[in-house]
This record gives sequence, C-alpha cells and structure tokens, in this order.
Amino acid sequence: MLSSQGHRTFKISEIRIESPRVKRIVVEGRIGAKPGQYVMIWVPKIGEIPISIARERNNETWFLISKVGKVSSAIHSLSEGDKLWIRGPYGNGFSLNVRGKVALIGGGYGIAPLIFLAENLKSRDVKIRFYAGFREKEEVLMEDLLRELSDELILSTNDGSHGLRGLITEHVDFDWPDHIYTAGPERMLVNVVRRGVQRGKDVEASLERLIRCAVGLCGACSLDPLGLLVCKDGPVFKGKILVNTRDFGNYKRSFDGRKIPPEVHY
Ligand SMILES: Cc1cc2nc3c(=O)[nH]c(=O)nc-3n(C[C@H](O)[C@H](O)[C@H](O)COP(=O)(O)OP(=O)(O)OC[C@H]3O[C@@H](n4cnc5c(N)ncnc54)[C@H](O)[C@@H]3O)c2cc1C
Ligand code: FES
Repeated sequence: MLSSQGHRTFKISEIRIESPRVKRIVVEGRIGAKPGQYVMIWVPKIGEIPISIARERNNETWFLISKVGKVSSAIHSLSEGDKLWIRGPYGNGFSLNVRGKVALIGGGYGIAPLIFLAENLKSRDVKIRFYAGFREKEEVLMEDLLRELSDELILSTNDGSHGLRGLITEHVDFDWPDHIYTAGPERMLVNVVRRGVQRGKDVEASLERLIRCAVGLCGACSLDPLGLLVCKDGPVFKGKILVNTRDFGNYKRSFDGRKIPPEVHY
C-alpha cells in the first residue's frame, strides 16, 4: 500500500534481539538501495526517523535499530507480522568502484551501512579489514556476520570485556588501507577523517544529522558553510569535504535550528 507521502508498507518477517538496545528488524521485500543509503520509517501517530539499510538479500531487507526515543521505541514494540511504513531509499551512498585494501571502521549501530557495503565489495577485487568498536561485550553486534564478510575483523570494547580494549580508533593502522569508510558516533568519525585525510587516504564517512523531509526541501540538515544537505548530498561525504565544514565535530542543528553539540540528543 502507498501513503500520500509515498510510504510503502513492508511486513516484518523476523525480529532478533542483538543487544540490550539494538534489534535486528527484517522485512519482506527489497528497498532497491545501494550501500550507505537510508530510508525513512514512519510509525503512524508517533513520527518518522531515518534508518540505514543494513542488508538487502534474497527477498528481504535488514535494519539494526537502537532504542533511543519515541519512534525507535515504537518500532521496538512491534512484532513479527506487523507492518512498517517506509519511504526511500534516500541519500547518495558509498562509492563502490574501488580496488585494493579497504578499511571499514564502525562504531555501535554504525556498523549497519558498513555491513551492506562489505557484502557488496566482497564480490570485487578488494581486501576488507573490518574494525568494529562497541562500549562493552553485551553491546557487540553481529560478530559472526562481520567475520564472514571481511578478510580480517578487528573488534574492540571500551572496557576490554570482549576483543581488544579501548576505542576502536586506537587500533586502526591508518597506513594500511587505500580506502577508508566509516560510520558511527561523530567523535569517532572526526578521529578517522582527520587521521585518514592527513595521510592522503581516500576517506568516506556517513554523517548523522536531523533528517525531516529527506528530499532537500526543509533545510534541517544543512552543513555550514557550503550548505550541503546531509539528506540528499550525503549522508556519505568525502573526508576532504568534511574537514572544511564548520559543523563537523563541533555542532548540529536541533528542531528549532539552534546549534547543539553533536553528541547531545535532540
Ligand atoms: C542517515 C541516518 C541513518 C541512521 N541510521 C540508523 C540506524 O541504522 N540505526 C539506528 O538505530 N539509528 C540510525 N540513525 C539514528 C536514528 O535516526 C535516531 O536514533 C532516531 O531518529 C531517534 O529517534 P527517536 O524518535 O527514537 O528518538 P527521539 O529522541 O524521540 O527523537 C525525536 C526525533 O528527533 C529526530 N532524531 C533524533 N535523533 C536523531 C538522529 N541521531 N538522527 C536524525 N534524527 C534524529 C527524529 O526526527 C526523531 O523522531 C540514523 C540517522 C541518520 C541521520
Ligand atoms: S532533511 Fe529536509 S533538507 Fe535535508
């Protein structure tokens, strides 16, 4: 069924608890996306949020959804057989025409778009090293799948309860890769982008900002000073562009347009 805003309905075929905060939600049917793109998921009477596509295969699409506030909690309360209202895909996605050594660096649910990317790159002439960082052992997501999709998996937890100890960025060998793709908390993105760009590496990062219309009309997701729109020109940006935006690592816009620190919730 199609809503007036172009949402399609998808039946939830599987729900898996991946960690205390994150559920894997699988729907029947494909979105027709490329890795790095996202959809808008609408829960009637509650609201609508942007979510990355974590996987598309056979006739199903996967999402990894962290329970944060009202809309994500409403999605967490759904059951298998229920419907999701989805519009999209939106955004540009990652570059796929690469060769050589590729480092994927993800934190928390930021691994979602990188899973989709790894699966796509696997069939190309590349060597994939997947770096995945989590706060603690019980928050580790999809370790078996990450191992399956990469030539090498390097996993860390902040407290050392699983894998290496410390932030994942402490374990990245920035001299190794030809290409770096990253998604996750903005502090991590800033570290990866700065160090990668300093070494002259080709870096792409997926950025999170307030997404409302998702089609470039409302301006909610605009980046200073170039006016790039995260919803349409992103969410994936070249590192060389991000280091020249004022917002990156410094602030994001809240619902009323105020500047707030990137790590503060809206
Ligand atoms: C391109 C993109 C991809 C994302 N992919 C994922 C993913 O794969 N898995 C996942 O768990 N989360 C993802 N997020 C973050 C997710 O959109 C927020 O956690 C979610 O919007 C929180 O909404 P809420 O209603 O549960 O929380 P509330 O605190 O109730 O949020 C209220 C409203 O604020 C807005 N909002 C809040 N946080 C964010 C945020 N970080 N980004 C954008 N809008 C926000 C939404 O409009 C939301 O309805 C992504 C964000 C972006 C921009
Ligand atoms: S969300 Fe409306 S312009 Fe980007």
